[in-house]
Amino acid sequence: MQIKTAEFVISNQDVDKCPKNNLPEYAFIGRSNVGKSSLINMLTNRKKLAKTSRRPGKTQLINHFIINNNWYLVDLPGYGYARASKKAKKTFQKFITAYFEKRKQLISAFVLVDIRHKPQPIDLDFMQWLGEHQIPFSILFTKADKLKPKVIENHIEDYKNTLLEIWEEMPNYFITSSTKSIGKDELLGYIDSINNELRTIS
Ligand code: GTP
Ligand code: MG
Repeated sequence: MQIKTAEFVISNQDVDKCPKNNLPEYAFIGRSNVGKSSLINMLTNRKKLAKTSRRPGKTQLINHFIINNNWYLVDLPGYGYARASKKAKKTFQKFITAYFEKRKQLISAFVLVDIRHKPQPIDLDFMQWLGEHQIPFSILFTKADKLKPKVIENHIEDYKNTLLEIWEEMPNYFITSSTKSIGKDELLGYIDSINNELRTIS
């Protein structure tokens, strides 16, 4: 899929104020600093569409970006940001939860996981929560440029083994790097195929 246009639409903390039309959307979620905003920029070929930072806690709102005028990428705040105040964490959790529970236009979540780390309870719990709420998701392993191919293979194998203790099948996954544009064509192709399917149904 060619990205012809990618534009910021709106930011807010309130799912009821998200765009009202029925265009399909795909939301990026995962721990703070895992690379959600960077991946949105990589996919759209825009360096500064989504705001990124070396410091965790950069994205604090639900951000809608419209792509090719017919679908949305949604950048969300990270979970598990240890330095956020208790109150801020609660607020985040509330509106992120509301977003996933209420947003009918959400076609799939992308749960981002840093490929360098062992499976973390916070990510596994979140995936389980999505499963319990019947929200489709794929896993996006990020920062693949930081590891050698062989190590990547081992880490994916570890992750699979852990997930298969919980899930009957390994969820759909992609290996990505924003700095090296790894996984771009695969991910855009995947989104494109879903969008096409939705068009034929409606
Ligand atoms: P929050 O908005 O705080 O939740 O973080 P985020 O998940 O949006 O992360 P962000 O995209 O802001 O990136 C965090 C840091 O990781 C930045 O310093 C990025 O440059 C770096 N980063 C993101 N993706 C990659 C990648 O694929 N490879 C490498 N090497 N660094 C990356
Ligand atoms: Mg961000």
